[in-house]
Amino acid sequence: MVRKIALSIAGVALVVVAGGVIFIVSQLNVPLWGTLFGRAEVQAGALEERIRLPEGFRWTLYATGMTNARFMVAVPNGDVLLSAPRQGRVYVLRADKNGDGRSDSVEVLLEDLNRPHGLDLADGYLYVAETDAILRYPFNEEAGTIAGPPEQIVSGLPRGGNHWTKTVRIGPDGWMYVSIGSSCNVCEERDSRRATIMRFRPDGSAGEIFATGLRNSVGFDWAPWDGSLYATDNGRDLMGDDYPPCELNRIIEGGFYGWPYANGDRAPDPDMGAGKGELIAQSIAPAHGFGAHTAPLGMVFVRPQGLPDDFRQSALVALHGSWNRSIKAGYRVVSLHWDPDGKIIERDFMTGFEVDEDVIGRPVDIVQGADGAIYISDDFTGSVYRVTYRGTIGSAPAQALPLPLSHREGGDPDYGRRHFARLGCATCHEESAASPGTRVVALAKLAGKYDRESLAEYLAAPQPPMPLFDLTDAERRDLAAYVLKRYR
Ligand code: HEC
Repeated sequence: MVRKIALSIAGVALVVVAGGVIFIVSQLNVPLWGTLFGRAEVQAGALEERIRLPEGFRWTLYATGMTNARFMVAVPNGDVLLSAPRQGRVYVLRADKNGDGRSDSVEVLLEDLNRPHGLDLADGYLYVAETDAILRYPFNEEAGTIAGPPEQIVSGLPRGGNHWTKTVRIGPDGWMYVSIGSSCNVCEERDSRRATIMRFRPDGSAGEIFATGLRNSVGFDWAPWDGSLYATDNGRDLMGDDYPPCELNRIIEGGFYGWPYANGDRAPDPDMGAGKGELIAQSIAPAHGFGAHTAPLGMVFVRPQGLPDDFRQSALVALHGSWNRSIKAGYRVVSLHWDPDGKIIERDFMTGFEVDEDVIGRPVDIVQGADGAIYISDDFTGSVYRVTYRGTIGSAPAQALPLPLSHREGGDPDYGRRHFARLGCATCHEESAASPGTRVVALAKLAGKYDRESLAEYLAAPQPPMPLFDLTDAERRDLAAYVLKRYR
């Protein structure tokens, strides 16, 4: 009897304690939920309220539910591929053909891979960076489908340790670049391939170390205006809130970027820098410093067509956000702008993922789609956001646009329809396609006012604020023929 009572008291106590723990955990901020359970639910309402973009840009929640969403590559047909290393998967986010701002469907493209992270497409292949190998699959870029069995073109890459993801990109020079992070926070590596960017022939042969002293360069891309390779790099941890800066480096062949002996602009590391003065002096200073512990990951140089003028020479960088800082930093996408003397200016691009220590998203990677729209992945909620600009980039529903877009004479409404969709004409002229707050100018009875030639002339010099689009005479005649049909 006494035992029974004791047991039931213990039982009640257990329930109370367990209940208390659940209550406490549920009161903690979402990051713990995210870390404990792999993925936080996307908070659409909070995102709506908090996300800020520069004037004229808008975002939509393009797809969600892909736990651990990491790196991406855009397919020319409008699809986006996305890696989920912990799930061993690569997803395909099908293009938004119905124009509702969301991917039409999310499908598993590949599974049972060994922590796939970096992705790239080149010459009919999809390249996938597993944690210790590079695979390539024949890939059909029109259909967005795998077209044959994979080849393992590189194996035996150093695995495990602090920085186990690999990023792969095919460079404009045709070489395949692979970044391999350090195994530790700060140490001398035994494997010389750690903390480097390597490169190989695209068939995996002729591997060589390209640049060293890079603690963890998760994202890299080539500046379209001069072909220079730039890479993000995460500074070391456990040296306080504000040191050292995270880095953007301009990577040159044979370059040494300081880790583990130096931080930031050749400042000796307190643990490893002693007696390494000569090496430190030879190391290359960052091209740009980000805030300490902001964790820059993916980056992309944007194609400036259709964007505001100051994006002419610019890149977007995802700052994943700090884990070892007493006040959170990062948790945003920034834009970098190269001014005419090559100076880099950093600005906020997409903010609001962290407000007063409350986290609702962590940006990882950024790619620009075939139509110019910008896709941003978030491994905190397993989502991808899509960012468009005014009527000019990404606001038209993606259509399978058979090439060519133009022909010699012009005046063909079938070609015109493609320009109408591609250029996002409906976003200002039809309520259904307009973003909230846009003033819609309805078009009607145009046939009473214009013929094909005079409408083509109007489009060559439209009445402001109707924008001027960069089209050839033939393309304008195609477009005019279609617009006359649509708004007879
Ligand atoms: C950013 C918004 C915007 C976009 C995008 C846009 N337009 Fe316009 N458009 C306007 C505005 C505003 C006017 C009215 C100008 C005025 O005050 O006369 C206009 C006027 C026109 C007119 C003249 C209508 C008339 O009654 O004379 C035509 C035709 C037209 N647009 C076609 C197009 C086509 C074709 C496209 C796509 C290539 C397009 N527009 C894209 C804003 C836009």
